[in-house]
Amino acid sequence: MIITVTLNAAIDKSLSVPNFRLGRRHRTVEQRTAAGGKGVNIARALKTLGQPVIATGFAGGPTGTRIVDQLTEESILNDFVRIREESRTNTAVYDPTNGQQTEINERGPAVSAKELELFRDKLLYLARGADMVVIAGSLPRGVDADVYAGLVRDLRKAGVLTVIDTDGEPLRHAVRAEPDVISPNVLEAEELVGHEFNDDEDRLIAVGEMVEQGAREAIMTLEAGCVACLRVDGHTQRFRVSIPPRDAVAGVGAGDAFLAGYVAARYSGKPPADCLAYGVACGAESTQHLGAGLVEPREVDRLLSEVEVQTLAASAEVG
Ligand SMILES: Nc1ncnc2c1ncn2[C@@H]1O[C@H](COP(=O)(O)OP(=O)(O)OP(=O)(O)O)[C@@H](O)[C@H]1O
Ligand SMILES: [Mg+2]
Repeated sequence: MIITVTLNAAIDKSLSVPNFRLGRRHRTVEQRTAAGGKGVNIARALKTLGQPVIATGFAGGPTGTRIVDQLTEESILNDFVRIREESRTNTAVYDPTNGQQTEINERGPAVSAKELELFRDKLLYLARGADMVVIAGSLPRGVDADVYAGLVRDLRKAGVLTVIDTDGEPLRHAVRAEPDVISPNVLEAEELVGHEFNDDEDRLIAVGEMVEQGAREAIMTLEAGCVACLRVDGHTQRFRVSIPPRDAVAGVGAGDAFLAGYVAARYSGKPPADCLAYGVACGAESTQHLGAGLVEPREVDRLLSEVEVQTLAASAEVG
């Protein structure tokens, strides 16, 4: 079983508004809502890819009820901790006349110390039947930046593999707790490592630096591919993976689809290079769908033949 954690789950509302202008009144021509937040999107993609997954996190108020109902409607197993404050709604306005998207994300609920403790207990209980836990997204208010770090330590004691996709301070703390995998995009990685990357060489060095900071393995997603520093037979090994870029219908959530693909392949026992290739194919395929965490497995398999994986020289032996 794979568990995904979304502490700041949301209802994602997408509105299609032709000729959207600031300060005007508009009517939508199309609207859709879906349960969202990074961990939820990853759970959706994992389920589509045929992997067993349970989504957990916090859900509060009528919006929280809606998140849980929508997941249940999609047959995504879920077990959320109910909180007092209301879960957030994120609104995206898409203008079909110019392709521009405007996003308004709510701040989200505050979570109390007691609610956080309930969540920790639930996660450790669920983890007893799990092999991997994917922790993704931003934190709700009232939660310390080192919360993911604490969960990583608890889960390691429980013998579960941890995968972290977040940014800023929560990522910095989590890396020190030595998670099994981190998967920042370029901007998130630059912030973590503390400098900008100018070329491929810099990016390959950076994934090594992230491993030195504490992550057992580090993957950096790129515009069309990724670079990674993974463990192979007791050594760290660097990889460069690419796919021809595609015209995106929607780029939002490509990182979530990438990670779902990587995790799905790893859960199935595929070798490291194949896991990266599958993730890249999933990320690329997801750009063809409006809505986060949507992938078409048959198209993913077709795209796999376009993915190129380079295995670079092995570096220092590691414990
Ligand atoms: N236009 C594209 N063509 C091909 N592949 C793409 C394209 N856009 C994204 N991808 C794939 O998706 C993966 C993740 O992309 P990206 O680095 O944009 O994630 P992200 O910034 O974390 O996105 P988000 O946080 O919105 O999910 C990349 O590894 C890449 O392979
Ligand atoms: Mg991302």
